[in-house]
Amino acid sequence: MPGILEGKSALITGGGGGIGRATALAFAREGARLAVADFNEAAAAETVKLVNAGGGQAITLTGDVTDSATVQSIVKAVVSAYGRIDCAFNNAGIAGFQVDASGARTHEWSDDAFDRMIAVNLRGVWLCMKHELVQMLAQGGGVIVNTGSIAGLVGLPTSSAYVAAKHGVLGLTKTAAIEYAKENIRVNAVCPGYIETNMTKDAMQRRGDAIMANTPFRRMGKPEEIAEMVTWLASDRASYVSGACYNVDGGYMAV
Ligand code: NAI
Repeated sequence: MPGILEGKSALITGGGGGIGRATALAFAREGARLAVADFNEAAAAETVKLVNAGGGQAITLTGDVTDSATVQSIVKAVVSAYGRIDCAFNNAGIAGFQVDASGARTHEWSDDAFDRMIAVNLRGVWLCMKHELVQMLAQGGGVIVNTGSIAGLVGLPTSSAYVAAKHGVLGLTKTAAIEYAKENIRVNAVCPGYIETNMTKDAMQRRGDAIMANTPFRRMGKPEEIAEMVTWLASDRASYVSGACYNVDGGYMAV
């Protein structure tokens, strides 16, 4: 049976990390041709190696999603490799500890930490959407999936700029879904709970017991469990789904 992304071309940002890498492998399993983009070139190349070793087709792209010209050249590189971008997974992101804001309450975030968080986790998603949408309009349609978070839906202590950025990502997602519906472009978000990746190590060390007490499944999610939702959203099986934010969180948002 053909995969649900057979013949599609896809761009994944943050594809060198936990959720991005798992999604690259899931997309490849379902037949997509991939461009794996990441700030960390070696990590993206490792994902590409894993995809190709499994019989998939992928290329490595590198660059910082906060820079408009860089994002534009990433999009252009996907189009020159595959002719179009059917699916885009805008997933690159950072956590508070990566901007020296580990454990900081709102008034303790430095100006630089706040700005960098918003630049990567909000502006980066917008820049990706902006350049992808130009291409999708030109080619007659496409699908965008953004990585939101439960932090896009509720407040989380010591994560104020992260929470602000993720709320913003959901706002961008819903607005673009309305704006481009008539042009055959679907835009959705996945909202992961606490997933076992590099990003959550710091929070789990500091307040893992409290987090698990608030998670009905009493365990973290695996990146592969997010990848399944993203793959479905990116596929034609989700043909009537747009402007939606799907929680994949072990029940966290139900409490
Ligand atoms: P990760 O740290 O394993 O992966 C993130 C990837 O993004 C890394 O490979 C990193 O090099 C890349 N990246 C960071 N800044 C970049 C930039 N400026 N330009 C290009 N690439 C950049 O973390 P994870 O968990 O896989 O995160 C992926 C997404 O999932 C992020 O948007 C994160 O906010 C989101 N998320 C993660 C959750 C979790 O529990 N792990 C929960 C909810 C959302």
